Amino acid sequence: MTKHPESIPPGSQRGRFIVVEGIDGAGSTTHAKRLYKSLRADGHDVRLTCEPTTGPIGGMIRQVLQNRLMVPDAEGPRPFAWSTMALLFAADRLDHLDSFVVPALRDGATVISDRYDLSSVAYQSVTAPGGIAVVPWIRELNARALRPDLTLIVDVPPKVAAARRAKRGGSEELFESTEIQSRLCELYSHAEELVPGDKIVRISGEGEIDDVAANLLDAARTLFVGG
Ligand SMILES: Nc1ncnc2c1ncn2[C@@H]1O[C@H](COP(=O)(O)OP(=O)(O)OP(=O)(O)O)[C@@H](O)[C@H]1O
Ligand SMILES: [Mg+2]
Repeated sequence: MTKHPESIPPGSQRGRFIVVEGIDGAGSTTHAKRLYKSLRADGHDVRLTCEPTTGPIGGMIRQVLQNRLMVPDAEGPRPFAWSTMALLFAADRLDHLDSFVVPALRDGATVISDRYDLSSVAYQSVTAPGGIAVVPWIRELNARALRPDLTLIVDVPPKVAAARRAKRGGSEELFESTEIQSRLCELYSHAEELVPGDKIVRISGEGEIDDVAANLLDAARTLFVGG
């Protein structure tokens, strides 16, 4: 029988679980990859992953985000309610913890996740009609999700992130309007209250990529001091 994700014992035997977060275009994917390479170069066994995951539920979420999920009862793709999205993200996360993250941590590997449940709290509360009133429900859905050892928030103003998204090209996803991104930025600035007890380090993502990456690496290396 699969052990519940939260049952993994803490301590030096188990690998470190690091999450990289930020608004769309802040650079979470860039910096999760850079951190992965740098920690590997330090000699650590590191596994890189992302949310939504590449698993079955993650695949469905991506289709919804990109407005291409075809459902039998509709003429074209149709969006899901924010509450359905909240459930899908939580299900994707728990399945991924069981199938990938927790086994890797038990192996002693460090896992870096490009986004985790802080994204659920932030993105669902900007799309729900009740706003931040939905936070307790989102937290409840994710109550069995293992807490990260460190969450790194790549912090950039919405305008900078929008310019980077524009440069990157591609079509706009569900959450990428400027108004939603500004509200997300505000929520990330209160992250300590949204996931109390989690260790959060905020790093400015506005400088040169190499400098930003070096700051993330410094923060991550503190997890390995003394063991
Ligand atoms: N410090 C930086 N300076 C300049 N450009 C950057 C910096 N960090 C990231 N970028 C660029 O910004 C763009 C967005 O970065 P990235 O795709 O990593 O963002 P993201 O936060 O993962 O976005 P999304 O949430 O939409 O996946 C990329 O083209 C990346 O190369
Ligand atoms: Mg990304």
